[in-house]
Amino acid sequence: MIFVTGGAGFIGANFVLDWLAASDEPVLNLDALTYAGNRESLHSLQGDARHHFVQGDITDRALLDRLLTQHQPRAVVHFAAESHVDRSIHGPGDFIRTNVQGTFTLLEATRAFWSALPANEQAAFRFHHVSTDEVYGSLGPADAPFTETHVYEPNSPYSASKAASDHLVRAWHHTYGLPVLTTNCSNNYGPFHFPEKLIPLVIVNALAGRPLPVYGDGQQVRDWLYVGDHCAAIREVLARGRVGETYNIGGWNEKPNIEIVQTICALLDELRPDTAGTYARHIRYVADRPGHDRRYAIDARKIERELGWKPAETFATGIRKTVQWVLDHPEWIARVQSGDYRNWVDTNYTARSNA
Ligand code: NAD
Ligand code: TYD
Repeated sequence: MIFVTGGAGFIGANFVLDWLAASDEPVLNLDALTYAGNRESLHSLQGDARHHFVQGDITDRALLDRLLTQHQPRAVVHFAAESHVDRSIHGPGDFIRTNVQGTFTLLEATRAFWSALPANEQAAFRFHHVSTDEVYGSLGPADAPFTETHVYEPNSPYSASKAASDHLVRAWHHTYGLPVLTTNCSNNYGPFHFPEKLIPLVIVNALAGRPLPVYGDGQQVRDWLYVGDHCAAIREVLARGRVGETYNIGGWNEKPNIEIVQTICALLDELRPDTAGTYARHIRYVADRPGHDRRYAIDARKIERELGWKPAETFATGIRKTVQWVLDHPEWIARVQSGDYRNWVDTNYTARSNA
């Protein structure tokens, strides 16, 4: 079986669902169920003996030791993280605890388990670390996209904590020989995306007639990838990636934020027309994010050259699926917006005066 961490979050849940749709290899899924974790995303796996869910924390060494010994996985795929830049600005402590301390604890538990395996199982074992393009920092408008050898220049508490975790993973390979793989991916979007991130936030706010907050001048550029493409890339790297290597994953899809917001409004105008007028009337420019990275872009040629992976979705097809998914799942959206979500919206947006 494979051992997935953070498999109740946005990308982790998509990965687990896609994995079990494509293979009968069981999944041990460890997730702390923070505000970002949601068992409902895994609802379709209820009663499926191939999915073994455990609520627990990756900083809990005793729990990790017990799970590894009991389940004897052939690979760890590590998604669990605090993942939202704005939250990392308001409260960086959780990011250091989970992303740095948690990755360290997981590496140490995995190393202890792996060291005791017979030689052939040690050689076949993989520790796949899921990371972000944000570790590379921000690009100027004319700079070439990030390659795997780009210097690390993280700018936010989130990206700094992910950069630290990447360095730990690298060191556990070089020092102890742990067979690691690291992937650094661009911004994802798709089903089960928590509506604190730009794309799901804009869809749910537009449908509720709330303001669509665009930070600063809205000209910040991100490279968007449909989540199913990211999951397919991880499966390829896990199966055939070279041990100790890093693979950048991206959609060849650079777009300024304001264009993303306008595209979503145009899709909603088509799919769920509002008699009062276009959804774009709700767009509001608001105070910028401190230290806001201007541009991310991924050079994904290495994974294409070595493993033949390319994104299957274009932005046009992926964003249409995503908007349709939100329209089709009002109960999922309503439930994740209850409780702590309102507190976060107040914390992040109330203080941002209209620019
Ligand atoms: P997410 O915030 O939606 O989910 C994170 C999951 O980890 C949640 O289910 C949460 O409950 C769990 N978790 C948090 N702390 C934990 C802990 N201490 N122990 C166990 N579980 C814990 O994040 P996501 O967007 O699905 O991102 C998954 C991974 O992919 C992260 O490592 C992130 O850095 C990386 N990544 C994300 C993106 C993106 O666009 N979302 C892009 C590139 C890389
Ligand atoms: P986000 O989805 O938080 O991802 P990341 O910060 O990891 O790239 O934000 C994507 C872009 O959208 C980023 O440039 C910040 C911007 N943004 C807004 O303009 N308004 C918002 O309300 C949010 C959440 C993000």
